[in-house]
Amino acid sequence: MADFHRLAVAEVVQETADAVSLVLRVPSELAERYAYRPGQFLTVRVPGPDGTSLARCYSLSSSPHDGGDLMVTVKRVAEGRGSNWICDHLSPGMELDALPPEGTFTPRTLDADLLLVAAGSGITPVMSIIRAVLARGRGHLVLLYANRDERSVIFAEELRGLAEAHPDRLVVAHWLESVQGLPTRAHLAGLAGPFTGPDGREVFLCGPTPFMDAATHALRDLGVPRKRLHIERFVSLTEDPFESAGPQPDTAGPDSTVEVELDGQRHRFRWPAGTKLLDLLRERGLDAPFSCREGACSACACRVVGGEVKMLRNEVLDQTDLDEGYVLACQSLPVTEEVTVSYDE
Ligand code: FES
Repeated sequence: MADFHRLAVAEVVQETADAVSLVLRVPSELAERYAYRPGQFLTVRVPGPDGTSLARCYSLSSSPHDGGDLMVTVKRVAEGRGSNWICDHLSPGMELDALPPEGTFTPRTLDADLLLVAAGSGITPVMSIIRAVLARGRGHLVLLYANRDERSVIFAEELRGLAEAHPDRLVVAHWLESVQGLPTRAHLAGLAGPFTGPDGREVFLCGPTPFMDAATHALRDLGVPRKRLHIERFVSLTEDPFESAGPQPDTAGPDSTVEVELDGQRHRFRWPAGTKLLDLLRERGLDAPFSCREGACSACACRVVGGEVKMLRNEVLDQTDLDEGYVLACQSLPVTEEVTVSYDE
């Protein structure tokens, strides 16, 4: 059984007609367990059909420096069971089961200059980063923020206030589809171009899939290397982390050996045939990054520099990534007897 706790809903803030922020109170004895980095997410339990439950991941919009409470911001998704239940049913005083914060969509330092690219509710983890960098860091931020129309802009007021308070450190460029049409790959390349490139700022990108696809292509067109591009995709989990760790894949085939470069250190392990690379590394005590564990977010991406692996599922890496040797550790099984992977390249 996963390590979750029941948190009280202290406040529900209506951000726009179809988005709310939930303020969740963390008791002092759990403060350390629920400490987080800007850009991370919470996995919460919501009611499923016929008395079952479902796990849903929502990004934190608060900054760790705002105080002890956690804030997640949730936008209604058409037919979305979790988001509609939260928007329709939660009120102060109710409780929510939540796993401790997780995720790798988080800057290494608050002092670096960043390009932030968000659309719709993709602003949520980006807002956490903005709040943290402006409060505690020295980084300069450019935010490209696309929305359907003016009324659907989450955090419009706060962003205006922050840009006025930090005119030399935060620039916000809004894109409204009602005025400018859908942002295309060419539009996004034109907007991002001055701020990035092979040696430019690190980029944090979050939004709906068509926007993310257009933005990813635009950034790769500009020469942004994969390791400087941080992508957060919202996924609906098919396994329930509140109940089990999920089934293991087949264990057919001979074992292999893997050499791993991570954070400047080299490690060598026997790699059992049916074990996913991420599971192996975490079992061996390595701090290998991950988020969804379902092949849908790319937080676990690493590069195969020797040998071969096969992926069980890949919903996020494109052909350019694959050609460059990137794989998803959470979905990778060994193919050759010797495999070498690097998280540092
Ligand atoms: S952890 Fe999300 S793709 Fe591997």
